[in-house]
Amino acid sequence: MLRGRFQQETAASMQRLSESVSFDWRLFRFDILGSIAHAKALQKARLLTVDELSQIETGLLGIEKEIAAGTFAFRPELEDVHMNIEAELTKRIGAAGAKLHTARSRNDQVALDLRLYLRNECTEIRALLIDFQRALVELGRKYSNAVLPGYTHLQRAQPVLLAHHFLAYVEMIERDKERLADARQRINRMPLGSGAIAASTIPIDRAYVAQLLDFPELTRNSMDAVSDRDFVAEMLFVLALVGVHLSRLSEDLILFASSEFKFVKISDAYSTGSSLMPQKKNPDVCELTRGKTGRLIGNLVSLLTVVKGLPMTYNRDLQEDKEAVFDSIDQTKLVLEVYAAMIRELEFDTRVMQQAASDPALLATDLADYLVLHGLPFRQSHEAIGGLVAYSQKEQRALPDLSLEEYRRFSDRFEPDLYQVFQLDRAMTKRVALGAPSAKNVAAQLEAWDAKLREQ
Ligand code: ARG
Repeated sequence: MLRGRFQQETAASMQRLSESVSFDWRLFRFDILGSIAHAKALQKARLLTVDELSQIETGLLGIEKEIAAGTFAFRPELEDVHMNIEAELTKRIGAAGAKLHTARSRNDQVALDLRLYLRNECTEIRALLIDFQRALVELGRKYSNAVLPGYTHLQRAQPVLLAHHFLAYVEMIERDKERLADARQRINRMPLGSGAIAASTIPIDRAYVAQLLDFPELTRNSMDAVSDRDFVAEMLFVLALVGVHLSRLSEDLILFASSEFKFVKISDAYSTGSSLMPQKKNPDVCELTRGKTGRLIGNLVSLLTVVKGLPMTYNRDLQEDKEAVFDSIDQTKLVLEVYAAMIRELEFDTRVMQQAASDPALLATDLADYLVLHGLPFRQSHEAIGGLVAYSQKEQRALPDLSLEEYRRFSDRFEPDLYQVFQLDRAMTKRVALGAPSAKNVAAQLEAWDAKLREQ
């Protein structure tokens, strides 16, 4: 198609290197959508007759149907999805087809297709993220009273409600959704009319094209528009961070499902066994998610590396953007779907978790607060409780089993009511500040999220 100035055929090996249709064919809907809008603008500029426009539209819609049905034969020698569709159109309708590419380059065309594609994926991924949050909130509501130890440094720190733990991930994913919406604003700019680099001498009404394709804004610099891939990098970053969040949750669940913790059972439907060890049941969804996160981060780094050395403007290197972003989108959607389903079937052993959370040492901080409320400066109180904990370990007697007299050796501010501190239920009602995990707060958060997610 483009060989006007060439005297030799492209080498077969060159074709294999050059072709992108084997992966960019999936942009076909957006390519056709964009071409129809472009054709309408050409007609508005009197570069096409009404009849030619109608031939183009009918031709393109016919091709779209065939591609969707899987009956369209793509030709790798035509390189990419854009040229495959255009060549076929011209074969079918003749002269009118040959006018379609007027005032357009594949450089602005591919930028448009990619923006339309990503804009659509933003909507789909947002829906999956919302469903994922719902699954977490449902789980929190199902186990609304369950406590477990909260960990720092993977050491038991303080008791928390399981729902509070899950709501932490709901918050992370909410921020992922905000980032996605933010990235979408910059994806949502119309680049067509930028041509190859310097637009065109043929005037096209870009605002009209933007309106047809529902873009609220136009790109403002043709050189930037054909070479910018920030919007792809942002999408890849958002997805990498979604992956990182899911990978952290995976790590929690892998630990909690181990025999060492025994806090949770993952359903058989989302586990596999070992080919050798009959007793094994593995948390594969979590492990695969953790593993795929490496890929999501890799795709981001790969695109940034492709772009970093490019002189203005379009360079063929940019063809490498697509496989990275297709892969991140496919993997993220797959993981979100399976993971949400797995979460809905998790079974927590609230008894084992309660037992682990009932270790009185987890309330040592509450005991320090007790002394503070009885007038001791916190640093002194911290030191006194530290001494007590060491003493109880040496004595091999738990904190609640020490006598008042023993307590008073560490501070004269202890009163007989100190033993109330070790009531777990009571401890769970005490953390009332905004964002703190009191039972009342967590219940209110669960309600609030439920209502918010219903609205979305
Ligand atoms: N297949 C190309 C890509 O994915 C389309 C743009 C080609 N432009 C060019 N001047 N060769 O980037």
